[in-house]
Amino acid sequence: MSNTEQSDYWNNDGGNRWVADNQELDTLLAPFKKLVIDRLELSSGETVIDIGCGAGDLSLDLAERVGATGSVIGVDISHPLIDLAKSRAESQQQTHFVTTDASSWLPENPADAIASRFGVMFFDDPTSAFRNISAATKPKGRLSFACWQSLSENEWLAGPVAAIIAKLQKMPPPTDPNAPGPFAFADKDRVKNILTEAGWHNIEITPWRDQLAIPGDNVEKAAEFVSRNGPARKLAELLEADPAIVDGIVREVLASKINDQGTVDLGGAAWIVSATKD
Ligand SMILES: C[S@@+](CC[C@H](N)C(=O)[O-])C[C@H]1O[C@@H](n2cnc3c(N)ncnc32)[C@H](O)[C@@H]1O
Repeated sequence: MSNTEQSDYWNNDGGNRWVADNQELDTLLAPFKKLVIDRLELSSGETVIDIGCGAGDLSLDLAERVGATGSVIGVDISHPLIDLAKSRAESQQQTHFVTTDASSWLPENPADAIASRFGVMFFDDPTSAFRNISAATKPKGRLSFACWQSLSENEWLAGPVAAIIAKLQKMPPPTDPNAPGPFAFADKDRVKNILTEAGWHNIEITPWRDQLAIPGDNVEKAAEFVSRNGPARKLAELLEADPAIVDGIVREVLASKINDQGTVDLGGAAWIVSATKD
C-alpha cells in the first residue's frame, strides 16, 4: 500500500499549514482528547500508540495518563508535524515520536492501547492498515479514535461550502465519499466493516454532536481560520473562482453566526469509535 498522495500532502502544504495553525487546531479539537482517552481506561505504566499523532497534542495527554513508568509512541507520516511534536514533548521522558506510515510500521513491542484523534481516515487501504494496527497491539489491547461524520453533518464546514456553491452557482465535480481524507470514515457501517474485517471486536461507534468554538477572537480571524483549514480554498480552485471572493463568502456565513462574545460557534459532528483485540 502506498499512501503516497497523503504523504505528499502532509509533508508539504497540509503539514506546513497544520504546523502554522497548530495552536488554533489544538483549541478546536481539544474536546476530543478526553473522549478518546476515557474509552481506553488507561492505567499507569501502560504503553499507547497515537496513530497520525500530528503535532502530538493527544500524545502529551496520553503520556500524563500512563505516567513516567508508561510509554507513548506518536506515529505520523509528516516530518514537519513530528518535528513540532518532538519539540513539545522534550520534558516527557516517556513520549517518543516516529515519522513513518502507520499502515505498515510495527513497534518493537506491541502496545496495550491505540489512540487517535482524527488521524486514521487517510489510508489507501484502511482494512489492511487496521490489521497492521492490530498486529501492533497486545492480545486484549484497546483501540479508541475520533473521526468526522460527513461534511453535511459538520455545519462549520458545510455552511461555507453551501454558501459558496449557491453564490457562485457552480457545482464542484463529484468525489468518492470513501476516498482517503477527513470524511472517509463518515459512514459508520463502513467503519464497522473495516474494523471487523481487520480482526477487531466489541466495536462501539458513538455519535458526538455539539458546537465547536471556531478559533479566532473576532469574526475576521474565525473566517480566516475556516478558509485556511476547511474546504473553501480547494473549492475555489475546483470552481476556478477568485479566492478573495470565496473568503468573503466564508466571512459572511460566519458573521451571521456570531455569538454574544463576538466569536463564532458552529455545529460539528464526529464518531467516537472503540474496539478491542481478542
Ligand atoms: C487531521 S490530522 C490530525 C493530527 C493529530 N492527530 C491531531 O489531532 O492534532 C491527520 C494526521 O494524520 C497523519 N497521517 C496521514 N496518513 C498517515 C499515515 N499513513 N501514517 C501515519 N500518519 C498519517 C497526517 O500526517 C496528520 O498529521
